[in-house]
Amino acid sequence: MDPKITGLLSRLTEAGQAHLLGFWDNLSPDERTALSQELQILDFQEINGFFKRAMESFSCTKNEKMDARMEPVPQEVLGSVTRDRGSLKRWEQKGLECISQSKVAVLLLAGGQGTRLGVSYPKGMYDVGLPSHKTLFQIQAERILKLQHLAEEKNKRKCIIPWYIMTSGRTMESTKDFFSRLNYFGLDKKNVVFFQQGMLPAMDYDGKIIMESKSKLSMAPDGNGGLYRALGNQGILDDMQRRGIEFIHVYCVDNILVKVADPAFAGFCMEKDADCGAKVVEKSNPTEAVGVVCKVDGLYQVVEYSEITLATAEKRSPDGRLMFNAGNVANHFFRFSFLKDIVEMYEPKLEHHVARKKIPFVDAQGQLITPDKPNGIKMEKFVFDIFQFAKTFAVYEVLREDEFSPLKNADRQDGKDTPSTARHALMSLHHRWVLNAGGHFIDENGSRVPAIPSLKDGTDLPIKCEISPLVSYGGEGLETLVKDREFHPTLIIDKNGVHELVKNGV
Ligand code: UD1
Repeated sequence: MDPKITGLLSRLTEAGQAHLLGFWDNLSPDERTALSQELQILDFQEINGFFKRAMESFSCTKNEKMDARMEPVPQEVLGSVTRDRGSLKRWEQKGLECISQSKVAVLLLAGGQGTRLGVSYPKGMYDVGLPSHKTLFQIQAERILKLQHLAEEKNKRKCIIPWYIMTSGRTMESTKDFFSRLNYFGLDKKNVVFFQQGMLPAMDYDGKIIMESKSKLSMAPDGNGGLYRALGNQGILDDMQRRGIEFIHVYCVDNILVKVADPAFAGFCMEKDADCGAKVVEKSNPTEAVGVVCKVDGLYQVVEYSEITLATAEKRSPDGRLMFNAGNVANHFFRFSFLKDIVEMYEPKLEHHVARKKIPFVDAQGQLITPDKPNGIKMEKFVFDIFQFAKTFAVYEVLREDEFSPLKNADRQDGKDTPSTARHALMSLHHRWVLNAGGHFIDENGSRVPAIPSLKDGTDLPIKCEISPLVSYGGEGLETLVKDREFHPTLIIDKNGVHELVKNGV
């Protein structure tokens, strides 16, 4: 045996993972090279340690019952776009001022595999079927461009909002390639920084790494909390420091309404002097699949929907609202100095969450088996696991219809969080923007469509309307284009002007 492989074998044996070379003698030269390369870079003692700690805290959490340890977010850390209307302008101006000084960056978590949506490419490349056929990536890129212009106009200086995009081994190449083919959607290439999160092997319940073929381990991204390790080991914190970034807006790829680098959210967190902030929407019903922001044992945390009992999810406050109603929309705000402390001090203390899964594996005979019940675990860190370390924490409540419509599942009748619901949410928001700016819609008979149109059977959305983010970031600047005018849907407003698409063409 090659001495390198002998060394590897002894490292594996010591870690109780020697089975990974069990098929070595049957492998082709190419398969051997691929497998040994994959194994050489893994630290098996560390992986075993992750497994041990994750399983210990998994069984411990189960026993202690999360429910009894939870309390709702206290009023004094809460801000709300509805209850604090009087402060909104001030927060927004504060945020815009900071953006204009090029101190705000955005960071996109895009390392997920889109399993529920069922596509083989990164979710950000998904086209939900808007009239423009823009993908989620393009919508976000254009919001960044527009916000840069708004901040520049307001404060009369040129600025940059760098866009950091976290991918994984599974999504890196296709994401980079997509951006390059589409010319970075008009952004400057040097301000779009891709980096890669880590991967971890799936393990069986005895802590043995699972193989998905005779020459390949079953690997998956290490959760969106893999962010913190990657920020350090991929040189991203250094890049932020070089650019003078002081605040970072971190968000998930799948929310079509996301207000990238939202100046009001940023300004609110700055005013609260928060290390860390979370954007939430009021959880609509007890079984909605969102995590809730709350305190656990006195520390801020997001408790995922899968971690609490229905009884806790159904608890109500005296005012009749759900007690745990701060629904996490996966939009976080971090101060750079806090992120730096996380990466340098706290990251190693974070434990992995355990997800029991059905993981295809090769058996001792080399046969691929697809199990029909969970046979092992995947280990993931979560992006919000660091809330507990914040000295000052802030929670910002926004309206679901304005800011939250995630794309999680493939389309099906009455499905939730699908391409159709995302498309409808965006068009319905843009419809309201037009009405608020003084525009009107008329139907095929020339009659005005009521502001709250009724959904007729078989219709898609009552009003089809799409406004390019290059024209408006949050509904501003539309009066000159629409005030006192009447439009037939489909209405498109983009940088070339206002167009009505009628059924038989333009
Ligand atoms: C997430 C939140 C949940 C929130 C919901 C709102 C987490 C852990 N959970 O849940 O509290 O209520 O969004 O929509 O954030 N990702 C990576 N690397 C990974 C795994 C995921 O970058 O290894 C990214 C995905 O690309 C996506 C985001 O993280 O942008 C969220 O991942 P997803 O699995 O969709 O989270 P949810 O379970 O929906």
